Amino acid sequence: MSMLDFDVLVTEQEQACTTRQFAEDIRAGLDRTGQKELPSKYFYDAVGSALFETISVMPEYGLTRADERVLRRHAGDLAELVAAPVIVCELGSGSGKKTRWILEALSRRERVFYYPIEISASALASCERELAQVDGVSVLGIESEYLDGLSEVAAKRKKGTHLLVLFLGSTIGNFDSGADRRFLQSVRQTLIPGDSLLLGADLVKPLDQLLAAYDDPAGVTAAFNLNLLARINRELDADFNLRQFEHVARFNGSTSSIEMHLRSKKQQTVTIARAEFMVQFREGETIWTESSHKYSADELKTVAAASGFDCKEQWIDQDWQFSESLFIAC
Ligand SMILES: C[S@@+](CC[C@H](N)C(=O)[O-])C[C@H]1O[C@@H](n2cnc3c(N)ncnc32)[C@H](O)[C@@H]1O
Repeated sequence: MSMLDFDVLVTEQEQACTTRQFAEDIRAGLDRTGQKELPSKYFYDAVGSALFETISVMPEYGLTRADERVLRRHAGDLAELVAAPVIVCELGSGSGKKTRWILEALSRRERVFYYPIEISASALASCERELAQVDGVSVLGIESEYLDGLSEVAAKRKKGTHLLVLFLGSTIGNFDSGADRRFLQSVRQTLIPGDSLLLGADLVKPLDQLLAAYDDPAGVTAAFNLNLLARINRELDADFNLRQFEHVARFNGSTSSIEMHLRSKKQQTVTIARAEFMVQFREGETIWTESSHKYSADELKTVAAASGFDCKEQWIDQDWQFSESLFIAC
């Protein structure tokens, strides 16, 4: 067997393994008694990643612009607060557009090695294209889950280097209550004292502003949500009729979260052939696809402290109420 044949075989095996895991997760989420749910990480195939980029420029979704304003204004402060020499890794970089400000500021003082970690191959490719153009920065993309990628980077670090982990865009809010803390604890276990975490998080704000951000009138967020069913059709040979489901965004006051659901417009049965599974929906029944928790500034410090981090600095965008917190591993 040639090396080329071997590489093709390994890629096919990886793909089969990914599809099997996808099928298992979808089946587990839809087979639940009570609230059906689907893991939000499956939003991000090539179509989902492109739709997320579009959401981030929608007038109602001020979150990404606020995050970018904070990063642009305070990248220089951040570069002064983070110990040198530093290697940067980003969890779920997406297109990485906002990260440019940080890399530019750090590269003014030293050459920077930047590791974006992504499950979406298309998002990772656009991140690599976007940021490879920044002078003094080497981009080394890793297509994997957050913690696997972080461990890979940590294992490669040279003695004496500091690690700066970026987790931007309020992706932390997508973890369930308690899971955010457990996730940050896992991140902390991979770091050593003195390493840093820059954590972006959306803050509580008026309800009408929040609901509009997750249910824009042009229907882009609805398309993003429905694409999850389209992806299951494409990759798992399912027969979801997308016109028989609708996007719902609602606020759950008890968890301070916006929840996105897909509501079945009628009683129906869907077959997911590659998961060897049939699922029934009642009229009005929903699939819970994502939560976006809205934090208070103090809550973030508490969660970080419980995970082994000290808060060094917190920058807040006053127009949209979005925070970037710099935490140091203690
Ligand atoms: C909400 S988007 C945020 C993107 C970017 N950080 C930003 O601030 O605009 C979340 C990103 O994380 C990626 N992602 C989601 N779950 C992941 C996981 N378990 N491991 C690695 N990447 C993941 C998605 O592909 C997506 O690009």
